[in-house]
Amino acid sequence: MTAPTIRPAGPEAADLLALLHAEAFRPADRWGAQAIGLLLALPGHFALLAEAGGEPVGFAMGRVAAGEAEVLTLAVRPAHRRQGAGRALMRALMEEAAKRGADLLFLEVAEGNAAARLLYAGLGAAEAGRRRRYYPDGSDALVLRAALTPPVPGAVA
Ligand SMILES: CC(C)(COP(=O)(O)OP(=O)(O)OC[C@H]1O[C@@H](n2cnc3c(N)ncnc32)[C@H](O)[C@@H]1OP(=O)(O)O)[C@@H](O)C(=O)NCCC(=O)NCCS
Repeated sequence: MTAPTIRPAGPEAADLLALLHAEAFRPADRWGAQAIGLLLALPGHFALLAEAGGEPVGFAMGRVAAGEAEVLTLAVRPAHRRQGAGRALMRALMEEAAKRGADLLFLEVAEGNAAARLLYAGLGAAEAGRRRRYYPDGSDALVLRAALTPPVPGAVA
């Protein structure tokens, strides 16, 4: 197994990111290429693409404003899961957010999304609140918060 490499992706990658998003999320939760392109053109917004063996395997999107960062989405293709891409993307997103001046990171995760909750917990994210009936299927979102300084847990110095 090759460790994923992570690189920035701009609005020009919107079609690819939309394909990756569609593979990872149910139809009601999918984001189209136009929406992704518009988001990535906004100030403070960024995306990171994970590749393994030259193939795109997943991406993360985040934004930073007023010293706080938010994870907008995280998606890894089903055939490439449990190989470290999700963790590598999140670590890179946290490092990028810290570089852009954020010292706190927030994200929402569906209460029933055990895989993502374990991933985020391993990166030091802890529950900070709950949004009731946040998702189209009526499930609650947990709001998680992680400190970005000092170093991201598990990051290579
Ligand atoms: C959540 C998601 C991004 C994880 O990506 P991934 O590349 O498989 O994650 P990693 O291989 O880096 O796993 C990191 C850790 O997360 C946890 N984890 C990931 N998938 C898991 C699963 N299916 N079951 C249990 N734990 C899991 C484990 O703690 C894992 O560490 P380990 O492999 O050393 O045990 C991926 O499952 C996905 O795209 N899901 C659909 C979209 C989604 O839910 N996005 C998050 C929205 S908030």
